[in-house]
Amino acid sequence: AAAEKGGWPSFMAKEIAEEPDAVANTLRGRIQDGAAVIPELSDLDELLTGIDRITIIACGTASYAGQVGAYAIEKWARIPVEVELSHEFRYRDPVITPSTLVVSISQSGETMDTLMAVKYAKDAGAKTLSICNTQGATIPRESDGAVYTHAGPEVAVASTKAFVAQITALYLFGLHLARLRGTLTSAQQAANLDELADIPGKLERVLESSDSVAQLARWMSDTRAVLFLGRHVGFPIALEGALKLKELAYIHAEGFAAGELKHGPIALIEAGQPVFVVVPSPRGSDEMHKKVVSNIQEIRARGARVLAIAEEGDAAVLPFADEVVRIPLAAPLFEPLLAVIPLQVFAMELAAAKGLDVDQPRNLAKSVTVE
Ligand code: G6P
Repeated sequence: AAAEKGGWPSFMAKEIAEEPDAVANTLRGRIQDGAAVIPELSDLDELLTGIDRITIIACGTASYAGQVGAYAIEKWARIPVEVELSHEFRYRDPVITPSTLVVSISQSGETMDTLMAVKYAKDAGAKTLSICNTQGATIPRESDGAVYTHAGPEVAVASTKAFVAQITALYLFGLHLARLRGTLTSAQQAANLDELADIPGKLERVLESSDSVAQLARWMSDTRAVLFLGRHVGFPIALEGALKLKELAYIHAEGFAAGELKHGPIALIEAGQPVFVVVPSPRGSDEMHKKVVSNIQEIRARGARVLAIAEEGDAAVLPFADEVVRIPLAAPLFEPLLAVIPLQVFAMELAAAKGLDVDQPRNLAKSVTVE
């Protein structure tokens, strides 16, 4: 097993190091002349042009990838997108028509909750598309179309490289749809693909800061609760950061939409409470950036220990943050691909500092094949 880990202390550490390749391999062969062209979908042009709404279904980490993807698909392809947990989807009598596309996301392609939701959607007349990391798995075989992520086999129970590959595939799919539906100019299409193509190199740079994140995790190894805040695409990243910490370090962790703070969660803030804040770029929406910085001020005034994840050069967070983890500049929709890395590393290192098995957390399975 030591050899399989390629010198890394755990499969999870190895798989985090493989994230740049997971994105690069998922992009390969899917960008042609400045446009997203997913060859596997070439027979589905008519189907994809005819849909009028998309429901994304998934469980766990894959559902957070879906939440991130929804922002981009809706913005680029101008189709309403909703995201739902697979096990919730079936029991609410969802509105499904022949022009509904149900997109499932699953690393393993075997998650029973997601498989049953796909079957339900098919029976109700929806078109189905699978985003999957496992060639020939049950869910892609049951679906009308499949877009594979090429993250390579993921062994650690907690998903890392599959997550960034899923977001990459969803973004490619959003741009593929936008091309079919003519909702972006070719310059916009090309600019977004340039951003995607730059992600692997930027991920390498994010990984270089892992040592300082590891140190932070070691300092905080007796922490009992951690909160995570994010807004817009940073919100699902906050949820994912919290999930990782629960799964690996058995620490109570919760993610919130930053705007929701004043509607409840701020009551949790007391002296010394650690709070990770995913800070959106000021270059996206200056207004949104200011609101998150003011959230930071509010929690800091109540004694929170603020751990900010912010882009390089964002000086507005400096006076209020106890620690700042820097990520390279990227267009705002692409920041989740970078901001999630320090949160994955933090959870892994904190679990390791507590002497826990980061690859095999208690009570969890890599693929849950029961409902
Ligand atoms: C399990 C794993 C999670 C994973 C989820 C969905 O609960 O522990 O890490 O996110 O299943 O798995 P899938 O294979 O469908 O992506």
